[in-house]
Amino acid sequence: MKFLKDLKRSNYCGKLGREQIGQQVVLMGWVDSRRDHGGLIFVDLRDREGIVQIVLDPKVDLLSSAKNVRGEFVLAISGIVRARPEGMINKKIPTGEVEVAADNCEILSEAQTPPFQFNAQDVNETLRLQYRYLDLRSSRLQKNLFLRHKVAQSVRNFLSDKGFIEVETPILYKSTPEGARDYLVPSRVNQGKFYALPQSPQTLKQLLMISGFDRYFQIARCFRDEDLRADRQPEFSQIDIEMSFVDTEDLIQTNEELLRKIWKEFRGKDIGPVQRISFQEAMDRYGSDKPDLRFGMEIQDLSKAFAKCGFQIFEDVLVRGGFVRGLVVPKGAAISRSQMDKLIEMVKKSGLKGLSWIKKDKGVVTSSLSKFFTPEFLDKIFTDVQAKDGDSIIMAADDFDPLCAGLNTLRLHLGQELKLVDHSKDYFLWVIDFPMLEYSSTEKRWVSRHHPFTAPQDEYYNDVVNANEASYGKILAKAYDLVVNGYEVAGGSIRIYRNELQQAVFKLLGMSEADIKSKFGYFIEALKYGTPPHGGIAWGMDRLVMLLCDTDAIRDVIAFPKTSRATCLMSEAPTEVGFEQLQEVGIRLSSQAEKVLQDKN
Ligand code: AMO
Repeated sequence: MKFLKDLKRSNYCGKLGREQIGQQVVLMGWVDSRRDHGGLIFVDLRDREGIVQIVLDPKVDLLSSAKNVRGEFVLAISGIVRARPEGMINKKIPTGEVEVAADNCEILSEAQTPPFQFNAQDVNETLRLQYRYLDLRSSRLQKNLFLRHKVAQSVRNFLSDKGFIEVETPILYKSTPEGARDYLVPSRVNQGKFYALPQSPQTLKQLLMISGFDRYFQIARCFRDEDLRADRQPEFSQIDIEMSFVDTEDLIQTNEELLRKIWKEFRGKDIGPVQRISFQEAMDRYGSDKPDLRFGMEIQDLSKAFAKCGFQIFEDVLVRGGFVRGLVVPKGAAISRSQMDKLIEMVKKSGLKGLSWIKKDKGVVTSSLSKFFTPEFLDKIFTDVQAKDGDSIIMAADDFDPLCAGLNTLRLHLGQELKLVDHSKDYFLWVIDFPMLEYSSTEKRWVSRHHPFTAPQDEYYNDVVNANEASYGKILAKAYDLVVNGYEVAGGSIRIYRNELQQAVFKLLGMSEADIKSKFGYFIEALKYGTPPHGGIAWGMDRLVMLLCDTDAIRDVIAFPKTSRATCLMSEAPTEVGFEQLQEVGIRLSSQAEKVLQDKN
């Protein structure tokens, strides 16, 4: 085993090419593969920039150690770059025209055989996460993290050029509600008290506007204890932005410019004007506030067609104010009964009670509702929604919310399954005019759709201040979300900047004076000292990079991600802590927690 001593790397392996032919170089990297050929050893040496072929002749004194070289050993090689002989050129790799004839080979580090091949397709995800540092050697993850770095750099440059300054805000802080549970950190010096890790720097960036910084940004780490999905992590990064003296249009323009720059730089594409649709329209047409526009199959309202139709189940729903809605599924006549049963099971999880269907195949109309309607009636419905022979209509009768949830799930599933999604383009959308509040039937109170700092549109000011509950469901907010290919990539709003309005919003969310004081006393107080009108947005940095890397798993763009159970398989965090450490912070485990731990051990 050798030490670096005065060895100095001269070049990256992956950067060698014809220009370096004849040069003496020193390379350092990992053995990607080795092949023995008639006394010569060929090693593909890899570093972060790529791979180059090294030729070692173990008969040469300084190269005798080459015989012991195995995969993933770390080597220092010195040698001369030469052109590969005709016929030996490898067009598949950028360095394929050259090789390095080694005159010295030092083994800097030996390696055990890795538990999996980095670039293999079928490796178990658990194993990859357990040895994340090895998985990160794969070209795929190296590429993703390099891109992530470049995106961050580009965003920083763009925002700095526009006069935004990056300010770091605390991680040990107080609850900043964004709809998830907080991660809590016990305080040793203030026993019985806890910090909350920020769900976002929301209140802090607003305070920076009150302080007069005018334009702030931060690539900020956020922490949310919520159910995880493929596009959600418990800790993630936001490109967090706040601006003073602006309204919705200024925010949208600035962020659209950033979006344009990113897509040009990293996807090589000019994006046209970004569409805007209201929340209501998005729900009506797609059943989702983050619709995937890469395919059509919009929701069709069939309520009129089925009004007074004589079918009791549909009529009852329509009379109580519900709807009959459905999707016209291209080539849907081919969906079998058993496939339909699976679709029904799927939408039941989203709250729909069931699905009905009408098909037309070679001129013959069939339907799950044949018992209740004449073929002519069903055929007319089919024709009215411009369905074609070979298509089907899949529909349901229910209230608006379950219909949206169920048909959205169905639309997204069929879009993928029937290969309707156009992967050749990216589709962008601003969703605006969100309702400010929604009623939570579990909590039996109104809750914010975004967060409690979002301003109502001006015409609803009095409804909020006068606590006019009858109108709460109709109040629209100055909020906007940026949706790309069905992912919510960014979301923000214009903020409340008047103390009395902020207090009124806290109250209508069911907070008492005492609650407001203990949770947001400092913030309400700050609003009294000259608050500029302001607004902002936060981009999900990980989601953005995920889209730019063409992957649908957020962990592919995070160096050390967590599992869907919020654990780190590599370090095994979260872990138990010793009795003394708990005692130091004044915490005793409940008997229930003790039991859970005992059962696990
Ligand atoms: P919001 O909660 O909408 O707004 O978050 C902004 C963006 O952050 C991303 N995001 C996530 N990414 C990965 N994992 C998660 N668990 C996760 N949660 C959210 C999404 C989302 O659009 N303070 C406000 C912003 C503002 O009003 O300025 C906020 O945090 O891409």
